Amino acid sequence: MVVEIAKDVFWVGVTDWGIRRFHGFELSVHQGTTYNSYLIRDEKTVLVDSVWGPHSNEFIAKVREVVDPAKIDYVVCNHSEPDHSGSLPDIMRLCPNATMIVSKNGLLSVPGHYHQNWKFKTVKTGERLNIGRNELQFIEAPMLHWPDSMFTFVSGADVLMPNDAFGQHYASAFLFNDLVDQEELYREALKYYANILTPYSDKIIRKIEEVVAMNLPIKIIAPSHGVIWRKDPLQIVAKYLEWARQKPEPTAVVVYATMWNATERMAKAIAEGLIEEGVDTKVYHAALADGNDLMVEIFKSKLLVFGSSTHNNGILPSMAKMLEEMRGLRFKNKIGATFGSYGWSGESIKEMEEVFKRAAIPVVREGIRLKWQPTEDDLDKCRAYGRELAATVKASKEG
Ligand code: FEO
Repeated sequence: MVVEIAKDVFWVGVTDWGIRRFHGFELSVHQGTTYNSYLIRDEKTVLVDSVWGPHSNEFIAKVREVVDPAKIDYVVCNHSEPDHSGSLPDIMRLCPNATMIVSKNGLLSVPGHYHQNWKFKTVKTGERLNIGRNELQFIEAPMLHWPDSMFTFVSGADVLMPNDAFGQHYASAFLFNDLVDQEELYREALKYYANILTPYSDKIIRKIEEVVAMNLPIKIIAPSHGVIWRKDPLQIVAKYLEWARQKPEPTAVVVYATMWNATERMAKAIAEGLIEEGVDTKVYHAALADGNDLMVEIFKSKLLVFGSSTHNNGILPSMAKMLEEMRGLRFKNKIGATFGSYGWSGESIKEMEEVFKRAAIPVVREGIRLKWQPTEDDLDKCRAYGRELAATVKASKEG
């Protein structure tokens, strides 16, 4: 179904109800997603972004409901990742004379993906393009989240199209933020931020300040995934500022990888110590938890307590995967601690501490390392360790 989101501005995107793994299976999307493309019917006809290639036919059928694709004058490619650009070859075949508008970096990435002889126009922040009753205004947004990323503001209809920014992997019956379950919406918006945008938090703050200073009369924020923010659209901007500042709650996440449950028993005892002292704590088995949901909990929490038994003189693969994901997201304002059981050599703690160091997360207590299965005394030591960590979390809150 095509939806007119503002006068002469149409959503011609696709809802992907079935997808559960995104980014080449690397990202879980429990509620599907949408690929939002927008068509502006003015004196000039403009298409802003497209959809992922497998959905080309549905997308083009929607474009045809609004205009003959041959009449498209401009195709704005705000960002070349294939979930938004994958249908460009199909739509461009139908409007071969259209000019494709990209950022300076888009001029590298779009041809790099598609190797087509399209007519390109590069734009910079502040450049405008009159299309009749509306005017397009472009804002480069490098690293939100690719170097080629760009926002397009449709002045007249007053719709900001920021591509991935403010999006959510959230397929829903209704397209607008005021018509969907708010808890689901914000859960998916936060998951999107934590897993995709966290490393660029400083840039996000600066970009939001820059856009606010432009005084754009934004009535609608229409991202490239999920619902469109039409009711109090700046609420998601305020949320992004809050998330980008990365002020975690005084809570703890205990994540463990275990072979024969010795490290698991340690994890539970450490968590008991934390909880005894009133610290809200969540415990996850690294091999069983959804890695992207786990990143959300890590995003929210101050204290990260990671445990692995020693395996092949290192850590278990599930912990290694989780640590690599965490390191890449460059979380700020965290503190860390480690634990693990071992039988022979016992290198796991050292290896996890090394990752914490590379992630610039200070280790606040020497790791607790036990041989074989823990005794009752050992478990008491783990509980005491948890209580010590609780004191550190509380001190960090007060500090
Ligand atoms: Fe939704 Fe960066 O692609």
